Amino acid sequence: MSPNSRLFNIYRYPLLLLLVPILLAILLPIQYQTGDSELFMQRIVKSVSRAFSSIRTTSTLAITPAVTRQFTTTTPAKMSSINANTVIDLIKNRRTYYPLSKDLTISPERIQEIVKEAVQHVPSSFNSQSNRVVVLFGAEHEKLWDLTAEVLKGMVPADNWEPTQQKINMFKAAAGTIMFFEDQTVVEGMQAKFALYADKFPIWAMQSDAMLQHTLWVALEAEGLGANLQHYNPIIDEKVQQQWKQIPATWKLNAQLVFGGKTGDAGEKAFKPIEEKMFVFGN
Ligand SMILES: Cc1cc2nc3c(=O)[nH]c(=O)nc-3n(C[C@H](O)[C@H](O)[C@H](O)COP(=O)(O)O)c2cc1C
Repeated sequence: MSPNSRLFNIYRYPLLLLLVPILLAILLPIQYQTGDSELFMQRIVKSVSRAFSSIRTTSTLAITPAVTRQFTTTTPAKMSSINANTVIDLIKNRRTYYPLSKDLTISPERIQEIVKEAVQHVPSSFNSQSNRVVVLFGAEHEKLWDLTAEVLKGMVPADNWEPTQQKINMFKAAAGTIMFFEDQTVVEGMQAKFALYADKFPIWAMQSDAMLQHTLWVALEAEGLGANLQHYNPIIDEKVQQQWKQIPATWKLNAQLVFGGKTGDAGEKAFKPIEEKMFVFGN
C-alpha cells in the first residue's frame, strides 16, 4: 500500500464526519423554505449544482450583469397537461376584432390580475423591466377616446372628419383600453450602465413591450374577450399626460390595446407561404 492510500485510510472517517455538518448547513435552510418534498429535492439538486458551478465558472459570473441577480421569483406552477400545441392554439386564436362592446366575459379584477401577471413575467433585456401599463375601464377608457378625437379634430380636414369620428366612436364603445409604455428612466439607466449596448436598449425595450402586448392580446382572447391594437401615439401623448397626472413623464406611450365583448367574427386573414418566411438548417 502506498503512503498516500495509507494516509487516506486513516483520515477517511474523520473526513466523512466533517462532510455531514457541511451538508446539513446547505440543506436545512432550504428545507425551511418549503414543505413540498419534491420541491425540496429539486432545490437540493439546484443548490448543490449551483455550488459546484460557482467554483467552476468564476469567469462567466464576472460578465453576468448584476441586475440579473437582484430579483426574486416564485416557482412556476406545474403544467403537466400543457404542451406547445396549447400555446400555438392560443396564438392562432388571437385575432383583431372591431367593433367591440362593453360586455365583459370576465370581471375587471380578473383583467387586472392577468395584466399584473403578464407585466411581471414577460422578459426584458438584462431583466431591466422597462414595461409599464395603464389599464382604463369604463368612463376612464372613454376619456382616452374623447381626447384622441379632440387631437384628431385639429388635424383631419373637415370633409374627412366623419369617418374618423366613427372610428374613434367605435373604440369608445369598447369596454376598456390597456396603454403600453416604456420607462425611459430604465432605458437610459441601462444605457449608462452598459455603454457597449447603449444603442440597443431602446430597441430591446420596444421588443419587450411588443412581447407584453402580444401576451395580453392572447390572454384576453383566451378569456373570451376581443381586442384590437391601436397606435395614436405620439399625437395623444401630451393629452394623456395631462389627463392622468400620476403617469410619470418618463413613460413613453407605445400602443393602445382596446378590449371588450366580441360583436362578430374576425375578418379573413391571408398567409404568405411558410417557405418564404422560414429556413431550417441541420437536423
Ligand atoms: C405591430 C403591430 C401594429 C399594429 N397596428 C395597428 C393599428 O395601428 N391599427 C389597427 O387597427 N391594427 C393594427 N394592428 C393589427 C394588424 O393589422 C393585424 O394584427 C393584422 O392585420 C393581422 O390580423 P389579426 O390580428 O386578425 O391576426 C397592428 C398589429 C401589429 C402586430
